[in-house]
Amino acid sequence: MTDETIVSFRHVSMQFPGVLANDDVSLDIRKGEVFALVGENGAGKSTLMNILYGMNAPTTGKVIVKGQEMTRFSPSEAIARGVGMVHQHFMLTPSFTVAQNITLGREPRRGVFSDLKKANAIVEDLVREYGLKVNPTDQVDEISVGLQQRVEILKTLHRGADLLILDEPTAVLTPQETDELFHVIRRIVREKRMTIIIITHKLYEVMAISDRVGVMRAGRLVGVEHTRDVNERMLASMMVGHEVLLGPMAHPSVVNAEDAPAVTVENVQVLDNRGLPAVRGISFQLRRGEILGIAGIEGNGQSQLVEAVTALRPLRGGDVRIGATSIRGLTPGQVRALGVAHVPEDRLKTGVSAPADVTDNLIVGREKQKQFSLMGVHMKRRAIRRYAQELFSRFDIRGAGVDVPVGSLSGGNMQKVVVAREFAFDTPVLVISQPTRGVDIGAMEAIHQFIMDKRNSGCAILLVSADLDELYRLSDRLLTIYEGRVTGEFVPSAIEKAELSYYMTGGGKEAEA
Ligand SMILES: Nc1ncnc2c1ncn2[C@@H]1O[C@H](COP(=O)(O)OP(=O)(O)OP(=O)(O)O)[C@@H](O)[C@H]1O
Ligand SMILES: [Mg+2]
Repeated sequence: MTDETIVSFRHVSMQFPGVLANDDVSLDIRKGEVFALVGENGAGKSTLMNILYGMNAPTTGKVIVKGQEMTRFSPSEAIARGVGMVHQHFMLTPSFTVAQNITLGREPRRGVFSDLKKANAIVEDLVREYGLKVNPTDQVDEISVGLQQRVEILKTLHRGADLLILDEPTAVLTPQETDELFHVIRRIVREKRMTIIIITHKLYEVMAISDRVGVMRAGRLVGVEHTRDVNERMLASMMVGHEVLLGPMAHPSVVNAEDAPAVTVENVQVLDNRGLPAVRGISFQLRRGEILGIAGIEGNGQSQLVEAVTALRPLRGGDVRIGATSIRGLTPGQVRALGVAHVPEDRLKTGVSAPADVTDNLIVGREKQKQFSLMGVHMKRRAIRRYAQELFSRFDIRGAGVDVPVGSLSGGNMQKVVVAREFAFDTPVLVISQPTRGVDIGAMEAIHQFIMDKRNSGCAILLVSADLDELYRLSDRLLTIYEGRVTGEFVPSAIEKAELSYYMTGGGKEAEA
């Protein structure tokens, strides 16, 4: 890091309808540093970075990049000045190869045709130069999320970026992929003098990777520190405004051994989108008052298992019973009617309807209830709105209110909408995938408490999470899965994380056969 300033925000404010997303932010970013940006959901982090990347013009204030004030705010303008951004929701073309994606918009050509061979060679050069390994000829929808992220990064490097903005890059990565990403960041900073701005909710990552850290709260930049001068606890209280402690949670069992299982999964087999086996014979039972955690590295069948249990994906073999009722041949709506609520892993694809307003998203699935409609037809808008407002405040959703499109909420607040809606159903079974992906630590604490309350009131909960700390904190039992099979069953207090990871990478597989 040097003292050379590469970007200056000067009194930047951004007013959205009803929300002041950035409030008089002044900040200098120095060339060659890793700058971490943290803050609660809705604090204004993405908004500030979207301005730098030219996606929005600020309402007032200036942005100066390499000594020149930005006048036109557009991504092409930002790219021309060496600014690159990898959004949390990738923007790749799935049916294209890695090389096609990286060179998109500046494809090498031979006559009127794009020159694939040359594109591959360009990518191989980039791989060599930056040490980010990818295979240029792989199709993007067939590679892991971690590799897709590399493709996004290489794309910005190919366009000449020397300042890279990463918006919650690790939210979708496994711990190992995160290590690899950090390795790459360190290397490009050291060898290429890149500047990195990284947004994250994981404070240990701030400690591990950044030189300086900025904290945002309610649109304002409330502090900028050298990372070496702070710790996680200090950062947490700067973010939230008071102390936050993610201590252990009490776990006295509330399971009644006499109860019949609430969910029975019997030798379930499921195919993935390509028609290949994703779940290869998984069996377990889940009782009321129990949280069963599924621990696995992303891509080992956990997503397809959840889809099978909620009837979003057909069973290839085996059976799932809710109570005594088989879900074979049922629609997702019918499974829901059996008493299964579901927080899906991908909130944008299946969790919310972005253009619809917050109220409508919160009410989905209950429109026909007596309190909200007359004979299932005439909607009682007042009652609906009151109900939505109640959930909005109970789940501490931050945004302009219940009348704005969900798509205008911040990432973490969209997640809270899905959680609020599903938790409000008083169902005996709850299937939850990645409940706290992208939410801040205060909200994480609250969501964990909601999950625990559900369990204590007798709900049977299937919990899939890529976050081992979360699984340890909440689960009564843990199943490790690898390549679509269960490799072990554990009580969290009786196994170390390191050993659990061994089972998640295929260790102990033969013991099961
Ligand atoms: N296009 C938009 N239209 C209206 N409001 C918006 C828009 N984009 C963001 N907002 C609002 O601005 C505020 C800040 O949002 P932003 O996405 O910057 O938060 P964030 O700090 O990135 O949060 P998270 O950690 O949840 O991603 C939020 O209240 C959000 O609802
Ligand atoms: Mg954000």
